[in-house]
Amino acid sequence: MDVINTPILSLGPKVVEFEQAFRQYTGAKHAIAVNSGTAGLHLCIRAAGIGAGDLVITTPFSFVASTNALLFENAIPVFVDIDPLTGNIDAAQVAEAVKNIEKWLPRKLNTPRAALKAILPVDVFGQPAALDTLGGIAREHGLTMIEDSCEALGATYKGKQAGTFGDFGVFAFYPNKQMTTGEGGLIITDDDRADGLMRALRNQGRAPGDTWLSHTYLGYNYRLDEMSSALGVAQMKRLDEMLEKRKVVAEWYSDRLSEIPGIEVPFVTPETTRMSWFVYVIRLDKGIDRAGLAKRLDAHGVPIRPYFLPIHLQPYMVERFGYREGDYPVTEDLGRRGVAVPFSGVMSEAQVEYVCQMLRQEITGK
Ligand SMILES: Cc1ncc(COP(=O)(O)O)c(C=O)c1O
Repeated sequence: MDVINTPILSLGPKVVEFEQAFRQYTGAKHAIAVNSGTAGLHLCIRAAGIGAGDLVITTPFSFVASTNALLFENAIPVFVDIDPLTGNIDAAQVAEAVKNIEKWLPRKLNTPRAALKAILPVDVFGQPAALDTLGGIAREHGLTMIEDSCEALGATYKGKQAGTFGDFGVFAFYPNKQMTTGEGGLIITDDDRADGLMRALRNQGRAPGDTWLSHTYLGYNYRLDEMSSALGVAQMKRLDEMLEKRKVVAEWYSDRLSEIPGIEVPFVTPETTRMSWFVYVIRLDKGIDRAGLAKRLDAHGVPIRPYFLPIHLQPYMVERFGYREGDYPVTEDLGRRGVAVPFSGVMSEAQVEYVCQMLRQEITGK
């Protein structure tokens, strides 16, 4: 309401305050607020100088935006399969891919290929990837690391904040996220040059000194408005409290669901010193008909959703790169068996109990 009662609805003090809150929370030197996580990833790719034909190692088990942001610049995503326990990119395979990238290229390339430029790991479902190993590989081979932490705000890996392991970290604030600004995203980096460039690119390419109608760069409108930033400032004050609530709900689920045959509950590695519960995704045994189960649960008012569908098998990816089923078997297996159950920090224990009872009933018949 304070913002609405001022004449400044964009490019004002609230976005500055929001960025300051993020610098404080993560310890990063720079924080650049943008209007989505996807926009944040795109700006990192531009700032890293990743362009047509450049190769970037990333995961096919993610929300599509982590790959799409590469395609916006005609870069080539080079997929590496995942660790079956966490669902995060397999660092050992990344190490192999870096040494022999030819072997990992998609079977169809419609752009001449250029150099291997970066690694783009995703902290899937709020659990950090093997970030120290991946960061080490990147440094050793002179590659940029862009960490997609859109699902993992507040998570820590071996005691260190997710998003701070690479050259860039990106967070997202869509309403299903741990905290929200309506729409929104934010980049953190310690790189002064990249910070300046990304600030210009999010504001239609206006560099410091440019007037409203002069544009040093080809830019975008990726600005986060003042109302959204004000929401972000307020949400940041409650972030840890909200993460704690989500953790309690996740524990209610794990206690109950680990007893049900046919259900595998999420695995948290010891390296994850703090999980930032974004979604609660279970895996069903191979024999369970997921679509049938979803339909039966829906009749009890319990929505469940497949989560994720592999990126390499999305129709536009198949068409462009010639991917086939079987190319990334672990990703595909989890893609077939993963199910997100209703999850938020405001669920009551009785609601969790009801979801679990319905799952038990519809899976075991008891
Ligand atoms: C892993 C991942 N990357 C990127 C994004 C993109 O964020 P946004 O929806 O804010 O563009 C999301 C969230 O939707 C995500 O889960």
